[in-house]
Amino acid sequence: MEICIIGTGYVGLVTGTCLSDFGLEVICVDKDSEKIECLNSGRVPIYEPNLEDLIQKNVNAGRLSFTTDIEKGIKESKAIFIAVGTPPNDDNSADLTQIEKVAQQIAQHLNGYKVIVNKSTVPVGTAGKIKEIINSFSPSPLQHPFDVVSNPEFLREGSAVYDFTHPDKIVIGTTSIKALKIMQEIYRPLYLIDTPFMITNPETAELIKYACNAFLATKITFINEIANLCDKIGADVHQVARAMGLDGRISPKFLHPGPGYGGSCFPKDTRALCSIAESFGYEFQSLNAVVSANIRQRELMVEKIKRLVGKLRGKQIGILGLAFKMNTDDIRESSSIDIIKILLGEGAKIKCFDPLAMDNTKKILPDIIYCQDEYETAQGCDALVIATEWNQFRNLDLNKIKKLLKNPTFVDLRNLYEPATLKSLSFIYEGVGRK
Ligand code: UGA
Repeated sequence: MEICIIGTGYVGLVTGTCLSDFGLEVICVDKDSEKIECLNSGRVPIYEPNLEDLIQKNVNAGRLSFTTDIEKGIKESKAIFIAVGTPPNDDNSADLTQIEKVAQQIAQHLNGYKVIVNKSTVPVGTAGKIKEIINSFSPSPLQHPFDVVSNPEFLREGSAVYDFTHPDKIVIGTTSIKALKIMQEIYRPLYLIDTPFMITNPETAELIKYACNAFLATKITFINEIANLCDKIGADVHQVARAMGLDGRISPKFLHPGPGYGGSCFPKDTRALCSIAESFGYEFQSLNAVVSANIRQRELMVEKIKRLVGKLRGKQIGILGLAFKMNTDDIRESSSIDIIKILLGEGAKIKCFDPLAMDNTKKILPDIIYCQDEYETAQGCDALVIATEWNQFRNLDLNKIKKLLKNPTFVDLRNLYEPATLKSLSFIYEGVGRK
């Protein structure tokens, strides 16, 4: 079976590559010719562990190809996956312009029965909207029938290939038996490893995606607030989280406190779900609170730094980590970047280091100092702040760091270190919720 993937961002590229690794023939289409040229010359425009090798393997096997020719992609395929961006509008609703444009193009090139699979995160009702657009733009809708399926993706950046091939569920939102059979055929390798398949209507599938992201964002925000409380009352948030996680109903995952969630998904999707609820006349009170608590978390982290170094004007602050989490070069809605912006606004000077995300950061913050490593960053600083949990930051030579810092102030926003260890080395140390 031939598959066409429209959009070669994180989700599209990983989906296309992994499906080709399942033995299917996949054409990945993108309107960005630079991206396609890059992929065709064997380079990968994003950093994602194991992705480059997998692309190479499947391109060499002749199962995976990249093109800007959407007509070819559509005509040669039975299933067409839409994986284009849904950035936020000014009112926080999802901007569906790219999806609508793709639906129009699909309509113009239909040449037989197709399953149109939406993988982008979209508001409830979008599958129906895609169907309407295709019907109204298709020159002969009766001659070329099609079904629209909602098939949300749950992979995480940094472990996208693993997550795609080891999902905890596959959600297929469709009312068409024919489309369902094709989807089951596409995902057969996952069926064989007993992945649960949830078959729902398209609206339910669309809501499942938002509900999962919003719940995880809520869980992180909850533990962040418990951590803030721990800071005030002298409790240890790690012990609280561990005890909570031992309750099977809660589970220990996503209970790690920090500077607030970031990335291209949680911030956008939480706001979008609030906006979807509002459009249906419902005020999603708890999620609205999560959205504002997550913004405040960044501000509270700056307050923490301020408490330790005093007035920020003229102070040199070293920041370790710019990416929104480790193992990615992605800085979208990164709490580290937001914290840097607040610090700059208060007159601090910033030195920073990140193993992968410095090139992306230079595009938006060209005037801060970029260092070669952790030690160059620490040199002469009034405080060193860990903002992203990169593994290489877990085993710093602390004696060396202490000598390099102007003041031995260490703010660990990811709780990578034991407070007692740092205090025994005479650092002024603060984590999040571990006073
Ligand atoms: C998230 C979801 O985890 C995926 O299931 C989903 O498919 C994806 O969004 C999406 O919608 O495409 P991702 O954005 O890659 O994946 O990142 P996460 O690993 O979920 O982390 C998100 C943010 O939460 C990061 O800033 C991370 O540092 C923070 N976080 C995570 C915490 O602060 N504490 C935790 O315990 C876990």
